[in-house]
Amino acid sequence: RRARPLEGVRVLVTAGPTHEPIDPVRYLANRSSGRQGYAVAAAAQALGADTVLVTGPTALAPPDGVETVKVETADEMLAACEAALPADIGIFAAAVADWRVKSRSEEKLKKTAKEATTAFELAENPDILRTIASRKTGRPRLVIGFAAETENVVANATAKLETKGCDWIVANDVSPETGVMGGQENTVHLVTAEGAESWPKLGKDEVARRLVDRIADTLAETGGR
Ligand code: C5P
Repeated sequence: RRARPLEGVRVLVTAGPTHEPIDPVRYLANRSSGRQGYAVAAAAQALGADTVLVTGPTALAPPDGVETVKVETADEMLAACEAALPADIGIFAAAVADWRVKSRSEEKLKKTAKEATTAFELAENPDILRTIASRKTGRPRLVIGFAAETENVVANATAKLETKGCDWIVANDVSPETGVMGGQENTVHLVTAEGAESWPKLGKDEVARRLVDRIADTLAETGGR
């Protein structure tokens, strides 16, 4: 096989959490480190892909040679992904916040009087993976989602192929005892229409390399390149 089998292939990757502002100093977020998505972008770039990484706030350095677009919210992430199209491959590893605060405050919120409670109204964020996967035009020919599950990992991921409209799901068990969320390692199952394949416990870099190798093989088989 060629050393750079993804030469000339454009790969879009999302990574990291999103931050959904409450007021100028506070936000809703999650514990995603962005490591898995950054590793996927670096691995794609290493195989010669023209790689764009759309990332929420993380502590990581952008991978060398990867066009990196930094965003904060889910809405911004979707807009940046759409702006990055057309792409041949879309890999959606970001842990997008499911909700945003419906009306963010322009001023820092004050503590309320004793006994009183503060409530936020939440609005649902766009599903970036589903939005891109269901495009009538300009859909990447291979759309890959990630699924973080705490139970029935493969069954839930298989159902997600349909609800998200994607081609592959990389599913992982993120129950707290696994240490995956924010950690260095990952035990994943690659779920496709053909079935599920369980990979051994691997570093996130190795998961990324295997995934992009598989992508390169699939493109070669389907005659893409
Ligand atoms: O539904 P769930 O959040 O488990 O789906 C996870 C997959 O969907 C991941 O690939 C994630 O990047 C993507 N996703 C997204 N936009 C959302 C929620 C999830 O792209 N708002």
